[in-house]
Amino acid sequence: MSGIQVNQLLTDNRVIIFAGSGGVGKTTTAAALAAHGAQLGKRVVVITIDPAKRLADALGVGGTLSNEPSRIDLSAPGELWATMLDTRTTFDALIHRYSPTPEQATRIIANRFYQNISGALSGTQEYMAAEKLYDLYNDSRFDLVVVDTPPTRQALNFLSAPARLTRFIEHPLYRILIAPANAGMKVISTLTQPVVRLISKVIGAQALEDTVEFFQAFQGLDSGFGERAAAVEKVLHDTLTQYVLVSTPQPDAIGEAQFFADTLRKQNIQPALLVLNRVQPRFTNNELVDTQSIAAKDLALLQENLAHFHRLADAQDEAAQIFIGSETQIPVVRAPFSAALLDDPEKTLETLCSLGALMARAD
Ligand SMILES: Nc1ncnc2c1ncn2[C@@H]1O[C@H](COP(=O)(O)OP(=O)(O)OP(=O)(O)O)[C@@H](O)[C@H]1O
Ligand SMILES: [Mg+2]
Repeated sequence: MSGIQVNQLLTDNRVIIFAGSGGVGKTTTAAALAAHGAQLGKRVVVITIDPAKRLADALGVGGTLSNEPSRIDLSAPGELWATMLDTRTTFDALIHRYSPTPEQATRIIANRFYQNISGALSGTQEYMAAEKLYDLYNDSRFDLVVVDTPPTRQALNFLSAPARLTRFIEHPLYRILIAPANAGMKVISTLTQPVVRLISKVIGAQALEDTVEFFQAFQGLDSGFGERAAAVEKVLHDTLTQYVLVSTPQPDAIGEAQFFADTLRKQNIQPALLVLNRVQPRFTNNELVDTQSIAAKDLALLQENLAHFHRLADAQDEAAQIFIGSETQIPVVRAPFSAALLDDPEKTLETLCSLGALMARAD
């Protein structure tokens, strides 16, 4: 992929989602390209779903990221903002939005079952990630939303989260759980239903009562949630939403990137780009070096090192070739290993900007 295409990826789209296996550099390269987008004049917000606070570190803003986007101090024609998903706060905001009355919202938020699922359950986090993305997408302060996903194979589950929510709302068991409220009856009458008694034996009577109470309080919000889920799903599959895979040139990471590519293709999504991160930079040839001033023995060592680095770079190219050569070609951009990222935490933002610019220039 040429630099022009990377720049186009940033300027022509509304959402870019980064995915890849653990530790390959998703957070770093997402932040680097987001910063480069700001240099191209875009108002970019980068969101991390990863609670490990790596984005805050990468941007050099300490632990200050929250659910509300904050502006990063960057001198650029555009703007760079960053935010970290807080599942619970996002869920609470949704409950408030769709509750017919503030009292109903308070009742749901105080429910023990709600408190358990809203912060911790993994399916909830995935749906809230999609929800938050949708919110930022509709926020007039931003032209581009860059998403950094967590290091799990399930990271792309949020693609199907809206559909799962809709299926759940339409499920007969859910209908049974909310039925007495429809008929103006109490929680207790639901608990006498045979199927519900069976569940009670498995999860315990108190837990079940909390659950039933929750769904009854949830009544009236479900159609709003259903419509919203459809709108969120539309954005995830929009033509202006792009998916970027991140990998290092090691075979195991490349294998994982292939897994993510397959996951996307199952959803009829073709990844826009593969970022090959931490690749060996290709150093200059020895005729450019002033060999006169180097002792013969040192020169021999340097040439040996250089040859070694070249072999390493060739091997990395070959590993990537396997990926590129797979059935559908994905454009590749290389992000070189940057010692500055490790050495100089004070200059992280500056280093990220140069890494972003390098990625956009690379062929
Ligand atoms: N191009 C690079 N050159 C040098 N170091 C890098 C580069 N890219 C990332 N790193 C370093 O590698 C480590 C992992 O990077 P990062 O946190 O971005 O990966 P990640 O894929 O987001 O990880 P996780 O899966 O844990 O979320 C960090 O210490 C980061 O500074
Ligand atoms: Mg990360």
